[in-house]
Amino acid sequence: MREFATFEERLSAWTTDTMQTVFGLEESSVKLGVSPTQNETFGDYQCNAAMELAKVLKKAPRQIAQEFSDAAKLPDFVEKIEIAGPGFINFFLSNAALAEHIQSLENDSHLGVEQAGQGKTVVIDYSSPNVAKPMHIGHIRSTVIGNAIDRLYRFLGYNVVADNHLGDWGTQFGLMMVGFRSFVDEEALAEAPVEELERVYIASYNKSKEDPTWRDEAKKELVKLQQGDAENLALWKQFIELSIKEFDTIYDRLDVKFDLYRGESFYNEQLPKMIETLEGRGLAVESDGALIVDLEEDGMPVCIVRKSDGGYNYATTDLATVQSRIEEFDPERIIYVTDERQQLHFRQFFTIAKKLGMDANLVHVWFGLMRLPEATFSTREGNVIKLAALLDEAEARALEMVKSSSPDMPKEQQKELARAIGIGAIKYTDLSQNPQSLVTFTWEKALNMEGNSAPYLQYAYARISSVYDKFHAKYPDAELSQYPIIIEHELERRIAIKLSRFPAAVRAAAENYRPNIMADYLYDLAQIYSSFYQNVPFLKADEGIRESRIRLCRATAATLRKGLDLLGIETPERI
Ligand code: ARG
Repeated sequence: MREFATFEERLSAWTTDTMQTVFGLEESSVKLGVSPTQNETFGDYQCNAAMELAKVLKKAPRQIAQEFSDAAKLPDFVEKIEIAGPGFINFFLSNAALAEHIQSLENDSHLGVEQAGQGKTVVIDYSSPNVAKPMHIGHIRSTVIGNAIDRLYRFLGYNVVADNHLGDWGTQFGLMMVGFRSFVDEEALAEAPVEELERVYIASYNKSKEDPTWRDEAKKELVKLQQGDAENLALWKQFIELSIKEFDTIYDRLDVKFDLYRGESFYNEQLPKMIETLEGRGLAVESDGALIVDLEEDGMPVCIVRKSDGGYNYATTDLATVQSRIEEFDPERIIYVTDERQQLHFRQFFTIAKKLGMDANLVHVWFGLMRLPEATFSTREGNVIKLAALLDEAEARALEMVKSSSPDMPKEQQKELARAIGIGAIKYTDLSQNPQSLVTFTWEKALNMEGNSAPYLQYAYARISSVYDKFHAKYPDAELSQYPIIIEHELERRIAIKLSRFPAAVRAAAENYRPNIMADYLYDLAQIYSSFYQNVPFLKADEGIRESRIRLCRATAATLRKGLDLLGIETPERI
């Protein structure tokens, strides 16, 4: 067993082994391990195998539990074992083992989390906005949720390739070119490039509706671009550069970094080959001049892979992209994060990829669109909210909070703090809900100091750090490592148990692609700590107990900090 194995792993290994020996079981399909109990009065972990083994062993579950309990020689980290109800076997960890475990984690930079991803690569395709268009709420959620998944996988030791799959190719560029040459306002372009590019596009599009010559011009420019005309290519590149530059200001504010910005255009040259493969395998057939893949037997509508005008489709690019990623990175998994409206698209091309025998685990992580009640944002237009304005508003609101809670803090520091709190609040609102449920954004919830919010956790963190500092100020010479952690009080026990379960929360959040599992964990931890802190003395406790509690406090702070970092949320030391 690895050095910092969790109690759940150790106990599961032991119950499995013991069950097999006591009942002479071979490898069985019955789960013989343990899981955390729902209710702590029933112990810390429980094993439910007796109920399932009843059929196999032809014995009553309670009898199985009893025989197990009679025959078992408890491992030293277990204090006692109890049989309850129809045959649950409940385990209580020993306080000494708990104390020792938390102490050992102080030396582990991974806080007990196993490097399960070592040697494995995952590609995560997230954010992926379209060039020359503002990000919409779906791109924002993809950025925040995708980045949390990215951080969780990195922390588990995976080699993560974060790829921003920009929408940088398509028929709209013909209209963009002619529109840009006629109507661009250079000043507006310098001010807010993406907005101006979008305005140009809309103007050009509207003109094309009334003016067939304009439409033909746009077509001609598009064909020139597709054929590699130098001037058009340069203009297209300029659109991309301007867009990326603006997107980057948002990524900077959100502290999001990508390894790659490979737009759809990166795969252009591979599209004809992909079509050849699809035809060669008999998967794609002509239909009304277009080339389609029939997915009827898979219960889905046909997927067009080449339009009748010869243009390729979104799915074709995505298939070429999978192929290319497999060849280049040999990923164990490719994770795509987008809003719910793209589910069919992903199901379709995943199915085709499988038919082509592409060897990668393809996962679509989708989320609902967040509801923005009227009057939430002054800058809202339909589903497009200006993210920069949203972040500005969050920071401004946070600044008011900081000014009232820390009126004496220097102005610069107040602003810096408000930045961390405002951005944290926006991210946490997104991350603390099941991504697939309908979320309604409100400022009250996002900035709620008492509830499940980023500011609540950030304040909790800062308060915990200050306890540690106060201790240091009072006992400057105390060597904490010379005082062992002691678990006696029931609240000490609860905090230690919760700390020991951090690795399980990391894994569950990563494996289920649900950062909200981590958010829930951190909120629980902060609440347990808070009742611990309110109900037992710290600095006034006797020597020995005092230092032990400070060590628990420090371990809690480290766990909160790491957990929030995995959600991309900063933890200022002073609030
Ligand atoms: N650019 C697309 C959009 O804005 C999202 C791309 C998602 N990734 C992908 N490989 N299809 O809707």
